[in-house]
Amino acid sequence: MVLKIENVSKVFADKRAVDEVNAELTNGVYGFLGANGSGKTTLMRMLATVSSANSGTITYHGEDIRKMGDRYREIIGYLPQHFGYYKNFSVEKFLFYIASLKGIEKTAARQKIADLLETVNLTDKRKVKMGKLSGGMKQRVGIVQALLNDPKILIVDEPTAGLDPKERIRFRNLLAETAKDRIVLLSTHIVSDIEYIAKEILIMKDGRLIEKDTPQNLLERIQDLVWSVEASEAEIGYYQEVFKVGNIARKSNGIELRILSKEKPAGNAINVPVNLEDLYLYYFDEGVGA
Ligand SMILES: Nc1ncnc2c1ncn2[C@@H]1O[C@H](COP(=O)(O)OP(=O)(O)O)[C@@H](O)[C@H]1O
Ligand SMILES: [Mg+2]
Repeated sequence: MVLKIENVSKVFADKRAVDEVNAELTNGVYGFLGANGSGKTTLMRMLATVSSANSGTITYHGEDIRKMGDRYREIIGYLPQHFGYYKNFSVEKFLFYIASLKGIEKTAARQKIADLLETVNLTDKRKVKMGKLSGGMKQRVGIVQALLNDPKILIVDEPTAGLDPKERIRFRNLLAETAKDRIVLLSTHIVSDIEYIAKEILIMKDGRLIEKDTPQNLLERIQDLVWSVEASEAEIGYYQEVFKVGNIARKSNGIELRILSKEKPAGNAINVPVNLEDLYLYYFDEGVGA
């Protein structure tokens, strides 16, 4: 399975929301990482054929996805960043409704819905109205609706927003499991969402795809750049002025700063093992993803 994005751009009035993006995607989880406004949603909407590119093409097995029309829509599952539902529909009713929109026959739908609700641990909530679900439960229903047609390509846009840590982990594992035989595209600005499950991380910045590599290779690039520095309260300001500062840990014996720098930032600085939060800080100035 190959989904190929070639020179894809999307322009809104005066804004290049997606700028000449190229990528080739096969089975596995791809984590689109980027700050708010970096173009993740705009790219995903084009991949879901909800909107079209101003230039460039997206092909599946060499065929333009827009020309494939329904044949393409049949093989994708999409969970939009803000997914719409009817508050007064029960979980089950909502899912049957989506299944019918997707043209899934009733008996098949019944089985699929039961299986998927079991997978996401929502069987006992099937009669509950959508409006009464917690954020995490809604997202799980969202993923179920995206998986109803057993898609070859699953596109999920910031699916963990509003989930608590436990729900996030469950969700992540679910995605990893489902990605064995499909292409999963997941966008997030939260590093830990993709740290363990992404085959590749695609870093978006100002509409451009600036990196696409395995987490391991990306980490290797910043390997010697991360330092731990002991500092006093009064020195924090200086370090923040001069360097990219990540975590500031106040410990009983002083303050420990995590600093990204090519040069050794202080006499007492020691190189420490890098993680994806450092990577985020390296690419995005505004701070480490929560
Ligand atoms: N419908 C739209 N009209 C005008 N500008 C838009 C529209 N959708 C997105 N944008 C702009 O495009 C940029 C990328 O947005 P988006 O794709 O939502 O980023 P992300 O999902 O990474 O937060 C932002 O600057 C945003 O304001
Ligand atoms: Mg978005």
